[in-house]
Amino acid sequence: MIKTYSLTLKRDEKIVIQNFDFTWNKGEKVVLVGPTGGGKTTLALGLSGIIQCEPGNIVIDSMDIVDFDLSSLRKKIGIIFQDPETQFVTTDVGREIGFGLSNINKERSEIKDRIAAVVEDFNLKHILNRDPSSLSAGEKQMVAIASVYAMQPEYLIFDEVTSFLDRKSRERIYELWEDTGSSILIITQNFQEINFGERVILLEDGKINFDAKTGDLEGSSHFAYDSAFFNLLRKNKDDIPQYERILELLK
Ligand SMILES: Nc1ncnc2c1ncn2[C@@H]1O[C@H](COP(=O)(O)OP(=O)(O)O)[C@@H](O)[C@H]1O
Ligand SMILES: [Mg+2]
Repeated sequence: MIKTYSLTLKRDEKIVIQNFDFTWNKGEKVVLVGPTGGGKTTLALGLSGIIQCEPGNIVIDSMDIVDFDLSSLRKKIGIIFQDPETQFVTTDVGREIGFGLSNINKERSEIKDRIAAVVEDFNLKHILNRDPSSLSAGEKQMVAIASVYAMQPEYLIFDEVTSFLDRKSRERIYELWEDTGSSILIITQNFQEINFGERVILLEDGKINFDAKTGDLEGSSHFAYDSAFFNLLRKNKDDIPQYERILELLK
């Protein structure tokens, strides 16, 4: 379980997340939506220890995030960004996948096996020796996802990862979201992707404005007509089968 206690996170000197209390249960698939600038990425960076917080602010499986060394933290929680370019550290897809694994102190033979497994799993064989930065946007994203996935973190955050994917790669990610036993946090602006979570959270101005079981969405009274959530709904109405029904409920 990942739990935050009055979490405060800053970007530069500006407070983006303040007094934030949130529980992410082990095995739970959570979808996080919200307007641009609402703090989704900042929260993801905080939960994965990339942006620092105060001791006692974030506890991961009973241990304070500030007490983790980097290698144990990466085994616990992985993050994949919308722009994978920022994530690449090598000039070869195979080595890129191996890099994370060696950082979490895996044995050579296990590294080899894990690389082979994700290359097969994510269909990367034909680009195995390519420089990640020379790949298409979709291929880059798949390499970034495979590199993090190879480490088998218990908690995985996907920060708007499907934006640049072609249909086939996107479907592969959807399969992964369905099948994975990891706890996943899907950050998205694509309302079709809400269906992959058991729980959906709306983050607005650094605060949770809405937190519900996905199945309860339809009958919820949280949909104020002028809310950010409703605006997002409206923008994505073509992707939301329940849209007309939600409109009815709001009348
Ligand atoms: N690298 C950065 N440096 C300074 N401020 C940032 C940076 N990234 C984001 N911010 C600010 O943090 C706030 C939240 O942004 P962000 O966490 O990226 O939201 P979201 O992912 O929901 O779009 C915004 O006001 C944004 O301007
Ligand atoms: Mg973001």
